[in-house]
Amino acid sequence: MPTHSRIERPIAVAARVGRFSYAIRNIVTEARAVEAQGRRVRYLNIGDPVAFGFRTPPHLIEAVYRAMQDGHNGYLPSDGIPAAREAVAADYAARGVAVSPDRVLITTGTSEGIDLVLNALVDEGDEVLVPSPTYPLYTAVLATINARPRFYRTDPDRGWLPDLDHLRSLVTSRTRVLVVIDPNNPTGAVYPTPVRRALIDFAEEHGLTILADEVYAETGFDGPVPLLATLEPDAPIISLSSLSKAYLAPGWRTGWMVAGPTPRLDNAVAAMRKLADGRLCSPAPMQYAVIAALTGDRSHQTAFRRALAERARITTERLNAIPGMRCVAPRAAFYAMPALSLPPGRTDEDFVLSLLRATGILCVYGSGFGMRPEQGTFRIVFLADPGELESIYRDLAAFTLDYLRR
Ligand SMILES: Cc1ncc(COP(=O)(O)O)c(C=O)c1O
Repeated sequence: MPTHSRIERPIAVAARVGRFSYAIRNIVTEARAVEAQGRRVRYLNIGDPVAFGFRTPPHLIEAVYRAMQDGHNGYLPSDGIPAAREAVAADYAARGVAVSPDRVLITTGTSEGIDLVLNALVDEGDEVLVPSPTYPLYTAVLATINARPRFYRTDPDRGWLPDLDHLRSLVTSRTRVLVVIDPNNPTGAVYPTPVRRALIDFAEEHGLTILADEVYAETGFDGPVPLLATLEPDAPIISLSSLSKAYLAPGWRTGWMVAGPTPRLDNAVAAMRKLADGRLCSPAPMQYAVIAALTGDRSHQTAFRRALAERARITTERLNAIPGMRCVAPRAAFYAMPALSLPPGRTDEDFVLSLLRATGILCVYGSGFGMRPEQGTFRIVFLADPGELESIYRDLAAFTLDYLRR
């Protein structure tokens, strides 16, 4: 029995939690409920190549192991070890973007980079231009800042490319940042040079910083996709990437942020460093893997790209063969964003949850990426092996026919 008095009511949580949403993981609660009923769930909700049997390159594992053995288990400088920052700068230079290592910050994944950039540049009430559909962390972080995402359409009728007129119509005096996710999650789009140039020109015209999410740059089916900054090295572009996708180590939570050399970004770099000081450093042993990844053998990427292209082909063919379903062929990464013509009154979430309960196939509804529920979009992760994919798409086709008849 407590001897002091106490107030018996639940502890209140902050309002920002109500605004925060990350559908890719939220939906797992539903999947667990289905599993509890004894049905096997096929998790096509999360873009983790390791979960589907792709192996982290041994020389990266060796580098982490050696770093631990050598005692690199303490705190590091908050912007990362110099050798890792130098490796990132050299890699960007080799890809046509000359930056010095002091423009590089080693992050706890692209995710932390997104958090740092938005927190450094965006105030409460400011606006950020975010693609629709988007990767949902952008809107989630903006919710915690109490800033406003303004969604610019990307158009499935034009290979999910940005609708530049729509983008232009959204800019206001409160707009701070243009988010460009290229190659794109969830659509698999790769933007052609004229579109990329138009995005840079637009940002320059309005004094916006571009956050270039380039975590899928090396997963282009036709080969690595050039960095956005190669088109305009002096534009205020902050590029983010990580070991998660092209280096097959998402659980290591290690990535990098590279700010372009323009002096216009000097304050932004100082602000991000200041914020990064507060979290001390990103994981220490994994920083040694950044060096191994960017200076060592990358032949695994050729095999990975080939595997992804094959899975994308199966995905596009099988989904487009389902009456009422349409899928734009992805050109990079491991996602497709099909759309089903829904009967009136139904939503994308209803379709995805019904699919899960009937077949155990777990996708994420498009409204979790900022699409309208009646558009009937959903995202599939196509990392499973081709045989498994064929079986998944057979079940998906049978379910969809049934769903549309109900
Ligand atoms: C577009 C995009 N940005 C960022 C991330 C987060 O990546 P990381 O594991 O590097 O934090 C993902 C992960 O799926 C992503 O798809």
